[in-house]
Amino acid sequence: MKPPKRLKSLIEEGLIDAVVRQLTSGKEAMVYVVRCGDETRCAKVYKEATQRSFRQAVDYSENRKVKNTRQARAMAKGTRYGKQAQEAAWQSAEVDALYRLAAAGVRVPRPYNFHDGVLLMELVTGADGDAAPRLNDVVFTPEQARDHHATLLTEVMRMLRAGVVHGDLSEFNILLGADGPVIIDLPQALDAAGNNHAARMLVRDVENLRGFFGRCAPDLLDTDYGHEIWDLYQRGALHMEVALTGRFERRTDAVDLGSVMSEIDDARAEEAARRLRLQPAP
Ligand SMILES: Nc1ncnc2c1ncn2[C@@H]1O[C@H](COP(=O)(O)OP(=O)(O)O)[C@@H](O)[C@H]1O
Ligand SMILES: [Mg+2]
Repeated sequence: MKPPKRLKSLIEEGLIDAVVRQLTSGKEAMVYVVRCGDETRCAKVYKEATQRSFRQAVDYSENRKVKNTRQARAMAKGTRYGKQAQEAAWQSAEVDALYRLAAAGVRVPRPYNFHDGVLLMELVTGADGDAAPRLNDVVFTPEQARDHHATLLTEVMRMLRAGVVHGDLSEFNILLGADGPVIIDLPQALDAAGNNHAARMLVRDVENLRGFFGRCAPDLLDTDYGHEIWDLYQRGALHMEVALTGRFERRTDAVDLGSVMSEIDDARAEEAARRLRLQPAP
């Protein structure tokens, strides 16, 4: 096909030889099948911030690494330079996450290059050798569903051990490659240790897996792996050999009684002060 504008500079640089076809046009990106030498790869072209949907929210970008404090200040102020820096941070977050996760042994597309807002990566292929389907487009037997669910929990644990929470994990962002599930779409990935929303996002990711595979294997529906995994992580006990139970009892001994008591004292003092203010002046 005639190469789209956004891919021209990659052709000029010799990173791409030809554009074969457009794979999808999602909310946040357009994805193309491209030829590089004698390999077929995948090019993800990020849309401009204004054309994107919700995901570049504060939740996700909290504690995202930036190069320097000038950038951080500009981003906080929302100046033009700040917006550009934020845009670049968003786009490069995906390639950073891919390198980090591939190194940690998570099955993600192999990244090749990131150039001019375009991510060049491995084209994940299915059993037929063509672009792999998303889980959402596949029907599973209960055994297959339980199997893939278990595999993906292991991947979530591996990601977490590498310090990453996907943040948008679902049947739409997992492909069924010839060798099993492959996790994609990571520009919103969160820093597990530095982001206050990481726990909530991890639990949501795992609940999405439960909800999807639970349609084919209903026995999965009353499991709670998300809280269990996060609890292990927080206690420094998330090893790959750990046998998950799918059960999670909220541990009452973890409550910090001292800080609860001082909260109550603060509330009492505030209330007393309020009453004093309400009293008519003598
Ligand atoms: N590496 C890849 N190999 C094969 N198909 C891919 C690959 N990356 C993305 N796709 C296809 O493109 C679609 C959109 O990509 P994704 O990264 O999820 O972007 P977004 O959802 O933000 O538009 C995916 O659902 C998938 O069908
Ligand atoms: Mg997606």
